[in-house]
Amino acid sequence: MIVVLLGAPGAGKGTQAKRMGSTMGVQHFSTGDLLREAVENGTELGVRAAEYMDSGRLVPDDIMLGLAGELLDRKGSGAGVILDGFPRTVPQAKGLDQLLLDRGETIDLVIFLDIEEEDAVERLSSRVSCPKCGSVHNLTTDLPMTEGLCDACGGTLVRRSDDIPEKIERRFEQYQRETHPTIEYYRSQGKLDTVDAGRPIKEVQEAIRRILSRNGEPQAAG
Ligand code: AP5
Repeated sequence: MIVVLLGAPGAGKGTQAKRMGSTMGVQHFSTGDLLREAVENGTELGVRAAEYMDSGRLVPDDIMLGLAGELLDRKGSGAGVILDGFPRTVPQAKGLDQLLLDRGETIDLVIFLDIEEEDAVERLSSRVSCPKCGSVHNLTTDLPMTEGLCDACGGTLVRRSDDIPEKIERRFEQYQRETHPTIEYYRSQGKLDTVDAGRPIKEVQEAIRRILSRNGEPQAAG
């Protein structure tokens, strides 16, 4: 099953994708995490992506479609995957359709995590994450067991460099301009399911579980 998670910055895409990945037993590809890793390692992709990410802008479509092609090759034919943060423009959505068509595959489901901007900004302002393993916590809604330390690996939790007010604002501008039309693109294909993502993590997770069950995902009931 190929599932796309769409939503504004802070909607909870990463939080829910990690849970879905382990429940469904499929790979979870987060383009944001992959780009941050590339920046950290100073790869060619990272050097090109850094200038856009640093200013809260989207990385150009040609770079993202190149990365998507690599991810699909890594996934292997017929395997399930959750795409978190990709596609987020209409050209990326069209490009992904073509990449999948070339492989005899198609997107099964797009889940749109719908949240008020005000609530999402509040979440981003209190998010902390682990640079070692990518785990995410929240100082208001999802506290780590030990203050300042990652539950999964004990690493030191830090704020993301793009979670500061002026960059959050830029990311929302990009979201409204570039990503919102993507939602309509999938709605017109009849593939979109919307979840109220303003609710607590477990309630959002349960709403997603119901959608997956309805769409014939047998391992979703966990
Ligand atoms: P990316 O990392 O994808 O950032 P984003 O889209 O801005 O999304 P976030 O990771 O900020 O939020 P999220 O929805 O995953 O929320 P989370 O689960 O962490 O991309 C970063 C950058 O990379 C982009 O700006 C762009 O430059 C580039 N990029 C990436 N993909 C690209 C693409 N396809 N094209 C072009 N450029 C691309 O949750 C947020 C917080 O809220 C956490 O603290 C969490 O604990 C908490 N939380 C989550 N759910 C709930 C809940 N239900 N209730 C209470 N708290 C919650």
